Amino acid sequence: MEKVSVLISEEEVNKRIREMAEEINKDYKGCKCLKLIGILKGSVFFMTELAKHVTVPVKLDFMSVSSYQDGTESTGTVKIVKDLDEPIKGDDILVVEDIIDSGNTLSYLLKMFEERKPNSIKLCTLLDKPERRKVDVKVDYEGFKIPDKFVVGYGLDYAQRYRNLPYIGVIDFIDE
Ligand code: IMP
Ligand code: MG
Repeated sequence: MEKVSVLISEEEVNKRIREMAEEINKDYKGCKCLKLIGILKGSVFFMTELAKHVTVPVKLDFMSVSSYQDGTESTGTVKIVKDLDEPIKGDDILVVEDIIDSGNTLSYLLKMFEERKPNSIKLCTLLDKPERRKVDVKVDYEGFKIPDKFVVGYGLDYAQRYRNLPYIGVIDFIDE
């Protein structure tokens, strides 16, 4: 059986996302169009909440990837399940992710996006588990640093469940 306990409350998450949006608004002041690129499915709840508070004009696009697992660790190889709908050449893009763990997925994706020659590229993540980092990734906007625990909610899943929890919770497995 699993038990989920609150790590970051709904109020705290939403407040922090509004602060991140304000930072983004300041940094992109005057920008004609900022393209938010969400990595499905984990980033969806974060991306929509963030986008609601961004005041520069935005476009949204999504990419779906699956990282080849090696036990519980993601490996450096990423399979593209759904590519972006539109080219990003010349665009200002902000990649929006739920969590950075080993860094494997993002370092692969950022390299791939860079090859498509956007005007600028930045990275925004709701959560960061710095203790688990294997590959260095430059994070431009970060919601919360969290300890090395498996978290769910606000888009994050365990076996595709719990994404709809309005808070970030830590999942524990209890023997019955
Ligand atoms: P990375 O390539 O190791 O950085 O893996 C990042 C991906 O692993 C994230 O986009 C999540 O989908 C998943 N992930 C990592 N840690 C967690 C967690 O604590 N809960 C849910 N998913 C996680
Ligand atoms: Mg993810």
